[in-house]
Amino acid sequence: METFQALLARKLAEALSAADLPPAGSVTPATDPRFGDYQTNTALVLAKQLGENPRALAQKIIERLDVSDCCDPPQIAGAGFINLTLRPETIAAKGAELLRDERLGVEKATEPKRIVIDFGSPNVAKPMHVGHIRSTVLGDALARIASFLGHEVIRDNHIGDWGTQFGMVIYGWKNLLDRPALERDPIAELVRIYKETNEKAAADSKVREAVREELVKLQAGDPENFSIWKETVDLSMKEFERAYQVLDIHYDIQRGESFYNDRLSAVVERLLKSKIAEISEGAVCVFFRDIPELAEKPAIIRKSDGGFNYATTDVATVDYRIQDLKADTVWLVVGAPQILHFKQIIAIARREGYTADFRHITFGSILGEDRKLMKTRSGENVPLRDLLDEAVQRARKIIEEKNPDLSESEKIDIAQKVGIGAVKYYDLSQYRMTDYIFSWERMLSFQGNTAPYLQNAYVRIRSIFRKAAVAAPLWGAPEDAKLVLAAPEEENLATRLCQFAEVVPTVLNDFRPNILANYLFELANSFHAFYEACPVLKSEEPARSSRLALCELTARVLHRGLDLLGIAVPEKM
Ligand code: ARG
Repeated sequence: METFQALLARKLAEALSAADLPPAGSVTPATDPRFGDYQTNTALVLAKQLGENPRALAQKIIERLDVSDCCDPPQIAGAGFINLTLRPETIAAKGAELLRDERLGVEKATEPKRIVIDFGSPNVAKPMHVGHIRSTVLGDALARIASFLGHEVIRDNHIGDWGTQFGMVIYGWKNLLDRPALERDPIAELVRIYKETNEKAAADSKVREAVREELVKLQAGDPENFSIWKETVDLSMKEFERAYQVLDIHYDIQRGESFYNDRLSAVVERLLKSKIAEISEGAVCVFFRDIPELAEKPAIIRKSDGGFNYATTDVATVDYRIQDLKADTVWLVVGAPQILHFKQIIAIARREGYTADFRHITFGSILGEDRKLMKTRSGENVPLRDLLDEAVQRARKIIEEKNPDLSESEKIDIAQKVGIGAVKYYDLSQYRMTDYIFSWERMLSFQGNTAPYLQNAYVRIRSIFRKAAVAAPLWGAPEDAKLVLAAPEEENLATRLCQFAEVVPTVLNDFRPNILANYLFELANSFHAFYEACPVLKSEEPARSSRLALCELTARVLHRGLDLLGIAVPEKM
């Protein structure tokens, strides 16, 4: 189903070609409703290119722009913008069409990609903390949106389950472990023994040496150390799984770093053989002398002691994703501190001849009220588990105040959806690169651009249908629904509903789910304005049916849009 934007862009292209003008500029939703529904800057762009008068060019274009079947006559505004106003019948017809379309007008990508999305990827023997929210929630939303757009998505959790930290963990396990504590709270105990070992090692060179030996033994396949390693990995994975369950996050594969262990020496041999890597001061390095920003920053892929590292693993990971998983696109949703690392890895992949599209998708930090990295009062990272529990508890309190008559099972369900939804939405509604301050008050507010506000808009619509006793099965619309758009609020709402299909694909241009979030917020605002101005159940036919259809469509777009962000909606709240 062609969107209005695509339709108008097509008609504009035809007009340009009829006027012997090259394609230029774009059609965008109008910035202000007074300028109509869409506008184009074509004449302005062309005027610059051709050195002509923009308004005269605009005139020339609209003389050939045939939009009479969908718009009022185009208007020239300002320096040479062309404003386009859809006719109410055009919008009404599209709205009715959307009601019959399960995809709400969103077309599938014309060139579907096979995309590996590396997101979340926590480290073993460390608790998941607030810092993991961004990669996990952002990666999940991008995966949902990419799948909906028809791409083949492989969600991969690149768990940090190998590395030098295991020297500490194994030493701690053998010398400091408190079994009952491990049974009570495995991760806390693992963290404790890791930290204590770290402190001892800092103070005592004998401990340092012992830690190093444990690591060497593990790498050499010592059975005891291997089984300790395995146990810590399993304990951590259980903990991660619990968080993923609460967050409703799924992975297709979880290839941790250890998965690549037996591929690492071949990677290094190959890079040496192809002269991509060279030996420097006993280590195997890749230099990037031709890339100015990396010229001083070689990647080490085998340390002078013979050990492999994080970079070696990531080179092997590239092979696996491209050759075994057959990906043509790889999205790495990993924080900004790893920008240099991935520049190196991607540069190596290019030298090896890989042409896949690699994107490192970075994001800012979550800050506490003091504008510093969010920590607990004692200065620790805030454990994700505690944070999610608190979200649900706080939501529960709010729900209880608002609607004490709900049953216990409803309260549990709603608190879960509202609390977790609030945390996710607060993250996704920000531009990913900015740091944000974590604020319970703001994310759980029923006012403003928040999950509870959007969920509440959905719930309000569902309650209209309960009152109307009209069965409004989601995804099963009245085939014959007809929209009559008389009031400006009706037209405005219907226009917005038609824009869902335009907004969703743009999220992937620069990996910005906040574009979708903002759209949903504006949609909910349009809905509330409509609801204030236009009685639904008390109106006469044909307005009543039309308004019910607008309600239904709004509910579906909210439901689908929030689902694409990984957020569930309750039926009541
Ligand atoms: N485990 C890493 C960390 O916590 C993130 C891994 C990202 N993915 C990758 N392929 N290196 O920093």
